[in-house]
Amino acid sequence: MKTIIAGNWKMHMTNKDTSFFMIELKKIVQYSENTEIILCPPFTALQTISKEAKGTKIKIGAQNMHYEKEGAFTGEVSASMLTELGCEYVIIGHSERRQYFNETDETVNKKIKAALKNNLKPIVCVGETLEQRKAGKTKTIITTQLKKGLEDLSRSQISKLIIAYEPIWAIGTGMTARPEQAEEVHSLVRKLVDCDIPLLYGGSVKPDNCKELFSQPNINGGLIGGASLDPKKFNEIIKNAR
Ligand code: 13P
Repeated sequence: MKTIIAGNWKMHMTNKDTSFFMIELKKIVQYSENTEIILCPPFTALQTISKEAKGTKIKIGAQNMHYEKEGAFTGEVSASMLTELGCEYVIIGHSERRQYFNETDETVNKKIKAALKNNLKPIVCVGETLEQRKAGKTKTIITTQLKKGLEDLSRSQISKLIIAYEPIWAIGTGMTARPEQAEEVHSLVRKLVDCDIPLLYGGSVKPDNCKELFSQPNINGGLIGGASLDPKKFNEIIKNAR
C-alpha cells in the first residue's frame, strides 16, 4: 500500500498563496511510486491548485461537501461541484467540522455515501477529546464514530475509504500522539473496518516526528495541518514517507 501524505490547509491560503506554494513545492518535490501526495485547500483555491497540479502527481481534495446533489443550501458545495474542479478526495467529518459546524456521525454517513456515488474518495476523520481519553473512553468513541459513520456501507464501499485518526488533543497543539498510542487506535480501526485501506494519523505531524509514526504497522500516512502550509516542511514529510 502507498503511504499517503495529505495536507489539510483548513482556512488558510488565498489563490495567490496557493500559486506561490505550488511553484515552491514543484521545485523541490520528488515523486515516488510508494507515496501519494494529496492537497486539500479551501474551496476558493481548488481551481488554482488544479491548474498548478496539472502534469504533476499531486492529487487534489476538498475539506468538506454537502450530501445533497443540489438545492437551497446556502453556502454549501456538492460532490459534483468538487469533481468538476479536479477533486479526487474529500475530507469528511473533521473534528473541527464536528465541533464548530454541527457535523454528526449521521451527516458523516450521508456525506460518505454521496461522495462515493460521485467517485470522490472520502478521507473520514475520527478522534477523541483529551477528556474522553483521560476517562478511558477512546476505544468506545472511535468505535461509535466508525459504526455510525460507516453504517450500511458495503464491503466494496468501505474498501474505497481512507480513514484518518486525529486525536483532538493533538490537533494544532504540538502534542503529537506517541507512535505506540496512535498505533493502538489504528489497530483498533483496522479491526473494526476489517479491510486493507489506508489509515492516516493526524495531529501535530511534523518533519521530525513523522518517520516514527509512519513506521507503525497500521499507520499508512498522515493528514497534516500546520506543517502542510510550508512547502519545505511538507516536502520534508513527503521525503520521510518513502
Ligand atoms: P495539525 O497538523 O496542525 O495539528 O492539524 C492536524 C489536522 O487537523 C489535519 O486535518
